Amino acid sequence: METHHRTTRAPETSERRPELTTPERPPKLPPPCGKDAMTPDARSLSSATRATLEAMEAVAADGNADWLTLPPDAYCNPEIHTLERERIFRAGWLALGRADEVAEPGAYLAREVVGEPVVMVRGGDGALRVFSNICRHRWMKVLDGRGRKAVVTCPYHAWAYGLDGRLRSAPGMERRPGFETASVRLRELRHEVWQGFVYVNLDGAADPLGGRLADLAPRIAAYRLEDWIAAATVVCGEVPWDWKVMQDNGECYHHEGLHPRTFQDVFPGERAGGTAGKDWTLLWTPAREELLETTASGEPVMPGCFFEPLPGLDDFQRTHFLLVYALPNFFIYLQPDCGLLVRVLPLAAGRSDMEADILVPRRAQALPDYAERLARFTAFFNRFNDEDTPVNAAVQKALASGRAHRARLSHLESHNRHVAWWVADKLAVPRYDAGAPSSGSTRNGPDAATGDGVAATVSAP
Ligand code: FES
Ligand SMILES: [Fe+2]
Repeated sequence: METHHRTTRAPETSERRPELTTPERPPKLPPPCGKDAMTPDARSLSSATRATLEAMEAVAADGNADWLTLPPDAYCNPEIHTLERERIFRAGWLALGRADEVAEPGAYLAREVVGEPVVMVRGGDGALRVFSNICRHRWMKVLDGRGRKAVVTCPYHAWAYGLDGRLRSAPGMERRPGFETASVRLRELRHEVWQGFVYVNLDGAADPLGGRLADLAPRIAAYRLEDWIAAATVVCGEVPWDWKVMQDNGECYHHEGLHPRTFQDVFPGERAGGTAGKDWTLLWTPAREELLETTASGEPVMPGCFFEPLPGLDDFQRTHFLLVYALPNFFIYLQPDCGLLVRVLPLAAGRSDMEADILVPRRAQALPDYAERLARFTAFFNRFNDEDTPVNAAVQKALASGRAHRARLSHLESHNRHVAWWVADKLAVPRYDAGAPSSGSTRNGPDAATGDGVAATVSAP
């Protein structure tokens, strides 16, 4: 469990868990309007939307056999975005943060998830709960940022809630006949904790997350992620690209072109492998053999670890980095010694909100130069993210220009192929017709017979 102290008044600002901001934040844009949150009537959809959904239907039907991206319109179209909010984001499981971020009774962490303010709170009984962060009086956001409180008091009219969400007092409301303080409570949202990551399901109807990721869990079990901590958060803020552009950028094919020094020198993108289940993909890239180092106990390990490699990993895990995607918004970069959780959520078509949690095994905190190592790893993230940022922005501009084509994918873009299929499967006609069921199909994805999205070139971890 988390050991470091948090004050009761201020958001978390300790050295161990700094809030970091990338140097150049994109300008703030207005939030999507309320109309955006409505599911469109199929009859009112534009012809462009219908054409995009028909293309998606073909992708969903054949498992993206042609290895194509989605049509550019899918990345820019507000009607598609509205469907995604309902079918993918509100109906799915969204990574909210880490359970270790609210380890102590009264600890809370407030975030916004596709337009909804939510907050996770550790109760006095030790239970973690996720609440809608909207006051049951007149809609004020109750908690902001992160911190620790014994009682949750709304800043607007001072209604006070317990850590279990029950209203304890509401000034003056005793004069309203029929108002029963005890019957009022913050709305609790469905959540699951998977390997230490807290997920929320906004519509309350998703299949259990543990079942969805059951075939992924054993592949990364050796890392014992439940024993890691979120050591820092890099707030990238609003970014001018669609969440699917961020997913597309998740392949390793671009190491040579975009990351010659940050990745390609050590992790040649052309040697990347991968596999996929229905709701996840997993990629891995080996470190160049001639650069491998040796641990104190004589085992091979990738060069440039920022902390100490975890014990209990095999040669494959010590010499490769992994990219783990639980769709739609959860992406872990994983090394033998540390990792990143990148959370990307849509704000509107072509605009997203992005944050990255720096992950380290809990034991790394005991290293005497922990803070310096953490700063070096954070700087590494900022360095490669600064390389990706202008590319993602340029790609989104091109997609919106009306001149972009529907792209063919390389064999190193199996992740992109799977994500295109996965999105298409959630949105495809005829399920966009009003009143039709919104659950995804039961097929496994591009290579349904094996459950793998691509042929693995090396054995899966
Ligand atoms: S809105 Fe919270 S107390 Fe009035
Ligand atoms: Fe990149």
